[in-house]
Amino acid sequence: MPAKPTVFVTRRLPDAVTERLVRDYDARLNPENRQYSGDEIVAGAAGAAAVLVTPTDKMTEEVIGRLPDSVRAIVTFSVGFEHVDVAAAKRKGLTVTNTPEVLTDATADCAMLLLLAAARRAHEGEIELRQKKWASWSPTHMLGTHVTGKRLGIFGMGRIGQAVARRARGFDMVIHYSDVRRLPPEIEAGATYHASPEDMLPHCDFLSLHCPSTPETIHFLNEDRIARMPDGAVVVNAARGTIVDDEALIAALKSGKLAAAGLDVYENEPNIHPGYYGLENAFLLPHLGSATTETRNAMGFKCLDNLDAIFAGREPPDRVA
Ligand code: DGY
Repeated sequence: MPAKPTVFVTRRLPDAVTERLVRDYDARLNPENRQYSGDEIVAGAAGAAAVLVTPTDKMTEEVIGRLPDSVRAIVTFSVGFEHVDVAAAKRKGLTVTNTPEVLTDATADCAMLLLLAAARRAHEGEIELRQKKWASWSPTHMLGTHVTGKRLGIFGMGRIGQAVARRARGFDMVIHYSDVRRLPPEIEAGATYHASPEDMLPHCDFLSLHCPSTPETIHFLNEDRIARMPDGAVVVNAARGTIVDDEALIAALKSGKLAAAGLDVYENEPNIHPGYYGLENAFLLPHLGSATTETRNAMGFKCLDNLDAIFAGREPPDRVA
């Protein structure tokens, strides 16, 4: 029997995924789940045929350049792949794959959780209750922002943006969106398209960000764009932290220009901008968008399907390079 290919895995994976991985590969695991440095990834990959990485691994040009020649593929346990320098991987002749589709629903659910929690002041309410400061029900106690019938602007109308639109329609929200491409009418389903995001922003009682992190979207939501939004709007980000200019968002949440924000992702995670910690009108989660057992298993199985294809000489289903 031919030797099983060696796969270096940078983080602990769900049990069901690990089980299949160790059955089919010579797996080099990270049971401590410690985040590795670039040097540790390069060292750990010695003699490996593939590395299985996650969004916390910075696969820069420098790290990729130093990967041993035995490595044929970088398989990322994520749909986003901005942490992998794809051009550098291509130059080195490496295959790169990701895990699209399987986390659409979980991430869209999370965006709705952020939207509702931010609008209805869930963080403040929970703190008040747990700190035993809740005095009584009253007609003016902790009033939030109504969701039903409000306009939701979606920036980035790919799979996840579309799944958020479907859910928001269930709350009778009116959908606006901006993307480089207009959707066909059957998918657009009555949503209003804005070729320019600047034109969409004045229509956003709620704004949910769903674009990828690219050089073009870095700090998309800045002071100027926030100024274009209606006063008292709510911002949701379950995509990538780099899309938001933290200083501008924090200033708008402090001044009341924005009523609230629901955030799952941050620039420079987990060392988020310290200004967020004390903001009562920010509902904050620690990058949990895809964190359901079902979704994380499916993401892991996608990584394995890609590895299986690569080592069988077939086209991997989720090639990004
Ligand atoms: C991804 O896959 O890119 C997600 O951010 C992980 O939840």
